[in-house]
Amino acid sequence: MNFKYIVRMPFSSIGRKILMASSGLLLALFMLVHLGENLLILKGESAYNGWVDLLLSNPLIPAMEVGLLVLFLLHIFFGLWVRFEDWKNSRKRNYEVNKSQGGRTIGSATMLYTAFALLLYLVYHMIHFRFADHSMGFYQMVTEAFRDKFFVSIYVLGALALALHLSHGFQSAFQTLGIQHEKYTPVIKATGWIVSALMILFAFISIYFFAGFDAKLQYEQEKVLETVIE
Ligand code: HEM
Repeated sequence: MNFKYIVRMPFSSIGRKILMASSGLLLALFMLVHLGENLLILKGESAYNGWVDLLLSNPLIPAMEVGLLVLFLLHIFFGLWVRFEDWKNSRKRNYEVNKSQGGRTIGSATMLYTAFALLLYLVYHMIHFRFADHSMGFYQMVTEAFRDKFFVSIYVLGALALALHLSHGFQSAFQTLGIQHEKYTPVIKATGWIVSALMILFAFISIYFFAGFDAKLQYEQEKVLETVIE
């Protein structure tokens, strides 16, 4: 792939689809990494804060954050553009997409809605976690936020929207990139389902703290320690 081809990508319909699909897959990769990081919070304060401190001490982080922002912008911009073109073409050909036609899943039928829900979720998430006061430590900030019913509801809905979005988006991106093969397509589809199911763990993390499982675990650990000392 040469430089000229990349520069011309936004000016062709297939180029725009490729940009949307590849940025989407990279974002899915970020989601998996971010999930792994946040599952560390279940291990306790020192594990989570230790990881975040290590991460933030990396001088490449600002550049990576800019890269992430570019990915989000590309995905949103070309996603909307491709959607608009599809809609225009379907009107031109004067046919209506039959919603009950085979091949459509809840994931594919709700792509635009889950996309908007995720955008709103992301703004909320950035305000409360990314641009918030970090002086109390990340563990304290996150776990305190998850004691609130409204906050947790937003996180559960956000995780469901993400799971639904990826349940279609993941495999559809491979299809757009022309990666289709009778041997590999079932593996890609299965991976898409697994990745999308894993996103529910974001909801699990918030519910875990809302239900106070961390306090219960700490209490049990203290009891075990007491019996060992006795
Ligand atoms: C249990 C759920 C989650 C927790 C506890 C969590 C926690 C965090 C925290 C603490 C930060 C701030 C890091 C910093 O200031 O450097 C952050 C950043 C971020 N989160 Fe989440 N997150 C969760 C779910 C999600 C989800 C579902 C998405 C995507 C839909 C997401 C996308 C992001 C993005 C894009 C950033 C900015 C990354 C950066 O600036 O380095 N997060 N998250």
